[in-house]
Amino acid sequence: MEDGYTKICTVSELNENLGKRFLVNDVDIAVFKVNGEVFVLNNTCPHQHTTIIYDGFIEDGCVVCPAHGWMFNLKTGKQPTGARGLDSYPVKIINDEVFALVKAKELKW
Ligand code: FES
Repeated sequence: MEDGYTKICTVSELNENLGKRFLVNDVDIAVFKVNGEVFVLNNTCPHQHTTIIYDGFIEDGCVVCPAHGWMFNLKTGKQPTGARGLDSYPVKIINDEVFALVKAKELKW
């Protein structure tokens, strides 16, 4: 898309409360559908840099990392404590298709 959004999948491909993993613009992302709403977060847990957020479970509007239980808000990617979180990406749904604005982090050397 011209506005920088990339097509990820369709809404109907997503299962309620079960994450899916995609690679978009070299960024590993986790996509969730919760109560019909779609959320896109970075898939790499900041705790041990493990790429398993997509496999997390949903609780209180958060995804819970399956490794050690760190929680991240589905909308903001932030932890409830305000500590290090995940990048979250804006989502658009057009005719059942999910688009997200996924930008790779700029590396600063
Ligand atoms: S790797 Fe996610 S909580 Fe430890």
